[in-house]
Amino acid sequence: MQHFKRAVSQNLKLPTGGPIGWLVKELIFLRTNDPCEVQAAKLLNIQPHHQVLEVGFGPGVGLKEALGYIGKDDPGKVYGLELSPQMVHVATKRLQPYIASGKLQLTVGDVMNLPYPDGSMDRIFHVNCFYFWDDLHQGCRELYRVLSPGGAVATTMNRTLVKKGVDGGLNMYARRTDPEEYMKALERAGFVGLKEEEFGEGKNKIYGYTASKEGEDRKD
Ligand SMILES: C[S@@+](CC[C@H](N)C(=O)[O-])C[C@H]1O[C@@H](n2cnc3c(N)ncnc32)[C@H](O)[C@@H]1O
Repeated sequence: MQHFKRAVSQNLKLPTGGPIGWLVKELIFLRTNDPCEVQAAKLLNIQPHHQVLEVGFGPGVGLKEALGYIGKDDPGKVYGLELSPQMVHVATKRLQPYIASGKLQLTVGDVMNLPYPDGSMDRIFHVNCFYFWDDLHQGCRELYRVLSPGGAVATTMNRTLVKKGVDGGLNMYARRTDPEEYMKALERAGFVGLKEEEFGEGKNKIYGYTASKEGEDRKD
């Protein structure tokens, strides 16, 4: 049992594939976390000209949602950054037409050192991810650096499910799942207008956290 829990936890922190990785992808990423991914993209009010980044996209549910706000002839584009080459492989297969049309760019990398220029993204989101970052403050500083003035960042979580996973030993590498700590780190990095919202009821309740970078949102 301990071996199983460790393998699930490993595939939540850094998916590596194999039979347990497949189960985690199919049952957790695609069939449990999907409402959080959709809600996070929704919170960002994505416009057709926006450059949008998702960090830790897993199989790409949120990327697909974000792409839905940007038409094929619009100037907007979606970027995905993932620490796991396995998840980049999976999302590349699932979202191939968007990559082929130049609307989506996927990269293996770490939020600790984002491979994008300063102020290059209008919207950034991440889901079930911040509690794996080596240094929460460095991660938030990087989000702030690559965000454009007036840009916004969002994350969502089903706190009941995350707590259940941690308490049950199935998410043993999650370091600090308290969103308060995350919000404090955002504030320290320079973000303003921090907001917590709730969506849904009971065990399906999703918490959304948003913040922005001071300035005028880009109009086109
Ligand atoms: C629990 S999974 C969540 C996947 C998806 N967002 C979801 O909610 O279903 C966490 C994901 O974040 C990625 N990740 C963890 N640490 C990261 C980091 N430092 N930089 C970028 N991605 C990271 C992992 O590879 C993994 O795919």
